[in-house]
Amino acid sequence: MPKRICTLGWDEYQALPLDEKITYLMQPDGNPYHTLFAQQFGLDLLTRLATLTNEIRAIAKSRNGTAFLSSLLAHKRAMLYFSQPSSRTFLSFASACQILGMPLGEVRDTAISSEFKGESREDSVRTFSSYYDLIIMRTPEKGLAERMAWVLSSSDRPIPIINAGSGQDQHPTQALLDVYTLLRSFEKTGGLPGKTIVFCGDLLRGRTVRSLSSLLLNYPGIRQIFVAPGPLQVGADVQEMLRARNVAFDLTDDLREAIRQSDAVYMTRIQDEWDNEKGESARIDTRRFTFGAGELALLPKDAVILHPLPRRDEIATVVDNDPRAMYWRQMRNGMWIRTALIAATFGCEKQINAYYRSE
Ligand code: CP
Repeated sequence: MPKRICTLGWDEYQALPLDEKITYLMQPDGNPYHTLFAQQFGLDLLTRLATLTNEIRAIAKSRNGTAFLSSLLAHKRAMLYFSQPSSRTFLSFASACQILGMPLGEVRDTAISSEFKGESREDSVRTFSSYYDLIIMRTPEKGLAERMAWVLSSSDRPIPIINAGSGQDQHPTQALLDVYTLLRSFEKTGGLPGKTIVFCGDLLRGRTVRSLSSLLLNYPGIRQIFVAPGPLQVGADVQEMLRARNVAFDLTDDLREAIRQSDAVYMTRIQDEWDNEKGESARIDTRRFTFGAGELALLPKDAVILHPLPRRDEIATVVDNDPRAMYWRQMRNGMWIRTALIAATFGCEKQINAYYRSE
């Protein structure tokens, strides 16, 4: 069992630096118990998860393999608690649970749960933990998944929580699938270390950028280029994190020049759901922050294009069939690495390794 947060009160726990908090979230085998932050994933864990993901993909190709995988967690149940809209994260986690044989429950609209009657989030999550063995949660509130993990770890029925997106701050499992996609994309071109990754779009409010930028710190020599209109440029917190780790990075509004220097371009949409006032984002000129046929012509031949999706018009559909467009595969990779994460959380890693070796 993991070292439990319950040894500390909330205020005491909250006051800890992130590095220390993380020690309370991990299991003795190095896998996460609660998955809350991208910073929980070091190089060793990322490498093991990527290997486990590859093994699961290979095992799932056969009927016997599929039956093996679906027997692993048939005795556990998962709850998908998504109080913010989602297609990919919800469905890929649901599929991941099904691959591992876990029956599912869901709350996607708090207007039809007892929160509508005034039940607190804390009581809701404790209620879920009475019926389920894992909670996967997405919320618009920064830090709520962390608070709920602490609540459960302080209760008589602690179960793991996976953060499937919290406010503008963290989307750790999106970063996992992004890194996994980059690792696969660069398998034949020297690997991920030393590459130049360009982020473009709404970098201020996009939690996927914040989490991926952090996860990339595990790979040496990566340069990060942030391309955005001034009001949406990446936040001071990300810049300070990169400076503290001596990571080379640039801020610019010149997408075309950045593309020429890129190994990967990570496009994002404008996150106007976070506007403080109606129409705030619409007043920002974002026309130069889109990727179309002109940008494709500038992309180096071994470079790739990623996008966490959903997109609006920041990648033209004409780009979709280019072999360097990875965003559809990236989305599917999410299902596989989320399967690996859940399997690792419940201690199935060695069983999967052994099955893979025996086939
Ligand atoms: N990338 C992502 O989080 O997509 P959804 O919002 O559809 O889950």
